[in-house]
Amino acid sequence: MTTHTISTQPYSDQKPGTSGLRKRVSVFQQSHYLENFVQSIFDTIAAPKGATLALGGDGRYYNRQAIQIILKMAAANGFGRVLVGQGGILSTPAASCVIRKYQTFGGIILSASHNPGGPDGDFGIKYNTGNGGPAPEKITDAIFANSKQISSYKIKEAPDLPLDVLGTFELGGMQVEVIDSVADYAELMASIFDFPAIRLLLNSGFRMKFDAMHAVTGPYAREILVNRLNAPEDSLMNAVPLEDFGQGHPDPNLTYAHELVEILYGDNAPDFGAASDGDGDRNMILGEHFFVTPSDSLAILAANASLVPGYAKGIAGIARSMPTSAAADRVAEELGIPCYETPTGWKFFGNLMDAGKVTLCGEESFGTGSDHVREKDGLWAVLFWLNILAIKRQSVETLLKRHWARFGRNVYSRHDYEGLPTEAANGIMQHLRASFANLPGKAFGSYTVKSCDDFSYTDPIDGSVSTAQGIRILFADGSRIVFRLSGTGTEGATLRIYLEAFEPDIAKHDLDAQVALAEMIRIALQLSELKERTGRDQPTVIT
Ligand code: G1P
Ligand code: ZN
Repeated sequence: MTTHTISTQPYSDQKPGTSGLRKRVSVFQQSHYLENFVQSIFDTIAAPKGATLALGGDGRYYNRQAIQIILKMAAANGFGRVLVGQGGILSTPAASCVIRKYQTFGGIILSASHNPGGPDGDFGIKYNTGNGGPAPEKITDAIFANSKQISSYKIKEAPDLPLDVLGTFELGGMQVEVIDSVADYAELMASIFDFPAIRLLLNSGFRMKFDAMHAVTGPYAREILVNRLNAPEDSLMNAVPLEDFGQGHPDPNLTYAHELVEILYGDNAPDFGAASDGDGDRNMILGEHFFVTPSDSLAILAANASLVPGYAKGIAGIARSMPTSAAADRVAEELGIPCYETPTGWKFFGNLMDAGKVTLCGEESFGTGSDHVREKDGLWAVLFWLNILAIKRQSVETLLKRHWARFGRNVYSRHDYEGLPTEAANGIMQHLRASFANLPGKAFGSYTVKSCDDFSYTDPIDGSVSTAQGIRILFADGSRIVFRLSGTGTEGATLRIYLEAFEPDIAKHDLDAQVALAEMIRIALQLSELKERTGRDQPTVIT
């Protein structure tokens, strides 16, 4: 089969964000756009001849076309073998599992995570290294640099492969193995969790609903929850993956997973509800008429890890992203283990896990995970919760209330302002930075500013420094407001405002977070001049 070297012109906008390159499908469909980025990955990673690559995506629109192109490019660039999920599908945690289990050189994951899909939706691509985790900034920066200078890419001329059939195919001297997307992942889950205990729970009147949001986790949930754990079929909803996610927004939060939320807050609600996102790495946990914030979820998992066979020997440490609440820090303190505070994005956890410093990680953005893979993992979190509930036999609400009674409650909420004009959003951040000098000591209602900064992180393993990772306004009583611009959006700018207050008083633990944080919300608007600068004072999404 002929290898063609195709001349191309660089694009200037291929800078990977928080989690790879994400753009509108129409952007990826521009001539050579995908090819340029893939060649930039291959040029940067310089894999040895004959190396193995893992490949799969969340099944969204353009997944299939992109997989065929990448296979032909991998063959032209000297790879010896590609492991590709059946139908081109691998959830993000399953891709991480495959990279680690088969010790591939790395992997390419096609996903725009929780962003909507379809011809008018988003598409994305990212590279994961041999540890199974997202490439660190050093590599993504090099890929970007490469993409700005690229002049040609290599591709084999070959027919498309039938990816829906399991088996091994040959493509210009390279082996393409179409693997079962679900099997390796399901086995890994069975090796961590107490499946017999969960099976008992699910067969003793306990009722659950898992919402796959028409995204990638449908087949995974069916295999694990229904086939292996005997959950009734109606425990699953929206379990058939669709290229456009049924025109939904596959983000498991109170706004976008409203169908599930209505069931859990309705009459005769099930005991437990959970949802996962487009590529299967996020999770939302609900009890009967009860929402668990992701920050609290991380703390609960850490506090109860000894109930799970895979973590019964103890956890080495915890890591959370900076905007995530300090609820897990309190658990770490009691367990006598370290808690690391990293910038937003899963890539910052990889070094800590590889060095054995942390076992559990989490982000406020509905992401929790552990060192079993190097991505956050939605179904893993659901199984962790089921394992805890199977042993404790308490309601989700009781479990949380008892946890707060013991550790205190970190009242928490995130307000997102989506689709802001980029200039106005940048202006807000500049204005906040400019006010750093005047804020300390200033009182706002019952809060006094103690300090403020732009979060910067030095990786304790490789010493790399990441600056400007979010503005923190810290108050004297330990409360805080964080301002950050999203690095995953594809349209305009999204400002995220993270609000946190610590409440030790058990009598106040029942308060709704929005009520408890009302004064801080007003202060955030005042400090940022949001309304004056954007005309907006109501967030588009509250989590
Ligand atoms: C968002 C979340 C972040 C998460 C990322 C990928 O990034 O806030 O925690 O790691 O998606 O799922 P952001 O848009 O805030 O840059
Ligand atoms: Zn995701």
